Amino acid sequence: MKKLIIEGKRELTGEIKISGAKNSIVALIPATILTKGKCVIHNVPDISDVRILIEIMESLGSIVHFENEVLTIDNKNVENKPIGEKYASKLRASYYFMGSLLGQFQQVDIANPGGCVIGSRPFDFHIDAFKRMGIHVEEKMDSYHMCTDELKATDIFFDFPSVGATINVLLASVLAKGTTRIINAAREPEIENLADFLNSMGARIVGAGSGTIEIKGVESLNDGEISVIPDRIEAGTYLIIGALLGHHLKITDIVEKHLYSLLYKLKDAGVHLEVNGNDIIINKSEHLKAVNIKTTVYPGFPTDLGQPMSAFLTQCIGESMFEETIYENRLRHIPHLNNMGADIKAFDKTALIRGKTELVGRKVKATDLRAGASMLVAGMVAEGETIIYNIEHLLRGYEKIVDKLNNIGANIRLIDE
Ligand code: EPU
Repeated sequence: MKKLIIEGKRELTGEIKISGAKNSIVALIPATILTKGKCVIHNVPDISDVRILIEIMESLGSIVHFENEVLTIDNKNVENKPIGEKYASKLRASYYFMGSLLGQFQQVDIANPGGCVIGSRPFDFHIDAFKRMGIHVEEKMDSYHMCTDELKATDIFFDFPSVGATINVLLASVLAKGTTRIINAAREPEIENLADFLNSMGARIVGAGSGTIEIKGVESLNDGEISVIPDRIEAGTYLIIGALLGHHLKITDIVEKHLYSLLYKLKDAGVHLEVNGNDIIINKSEHLKAVNIKTTVYPGFPTDLGQPMSAFLTQCIGESMFEETIYENRLRHIPHLNNMGADIKAFDKTALIRGKTELVGRKVKATDLRAGASMLVAGMVAEGETIIYNIEHLLRGYEKIVDKLNNIGANIRLIDE
């Protein structure tokens, strides 16, 4: 078990560089299964989810090399083997092997995926889409067996633009015969990154990043190369921290258009920030105003930034409303914020945050990845020492977080117990 100890109220200055996006790389690695060739992926973050996916790839026969943010994967010896609970339960994205193994081998045996406990997180859209593509799906107690003689290209409509289901259909359809159309597809930038990667291998995907994606099936894919887009959630977390504690803090490798919703809300709250190409300089503001946040699908305010933003809102003067619309259980961090001195009333998926309240260091828990980010923001701005337990959750999504923050003036220690 690891814990993070934070001495709060340190001014942050200097430069912090954003890493490659977790939610992109977790799709790009399984996608390589679709070629028997070699793939090179640049700007890869060294986070635990990547290490687990590498283990899974090696268990299937891939030759993997990961050094200096470059991941090379040679799949000439890849075979279709079952992916057991030991691997699949470690992360949500293990279910992308469903799409890619079905695409390449028309069969997959895989245990149930893991991931943060932020709601029931069904994957019925994925299963329904696979069935429409002619795949026989057998649901066992804690695993799935899926197979088909031939993947059928067809139209797939989603009731809700699910990121995961869009990715799984993309993966399953690039080698299917004919044209697949995904209607009401997710528009998150990570989908575009994946489509660019698959197209670099010879896939024929148009419309990724919009609500309708068209995939013309091809016979096979070749070698591929891509650079992982910068992590908009990591960038957003550091922008939020910079808005509270920054002094000419420069955050580099940001794609501004991926973060419009957050930048808009920060400016509304009175934050001073300056965008220069892919860099943003941010300064703390003493008189922050309350703003309302409602999480939704891209390009709306991201659910993954709702929790860190709620910690920020405790420092704004007035009443802010925070409404989560994607997951059922994204407010589990609120009691911990209140324990640190916040004044937040939570009802179902909505929280009313009264500010400004002085926060004090306490012992708190990271109940999931982004709850950990929320505790981090609160601990950084609190008086005294904050200890965050269950910090493994946070480390899954933020590369070298301790070094990155200490390099700009924070006082954080990671302790192994
Ligand atoms: N949903 C269904 N049925 C489905 C699929 C989704 O009901 O078949 C529901 C979910 O229960 C949820 C909503 O639709 O309420 C959104 O789910 P979506 O499929 O869009 O999300 P996801 O693919 O499970 C990815 C990220 C999440 C991020 C969401 C939304 C990965 C590995 N995960 O999840 O990231 O919150 O998109 O942007 O890419 C995180 O990084 O902390 C994280 C949870």
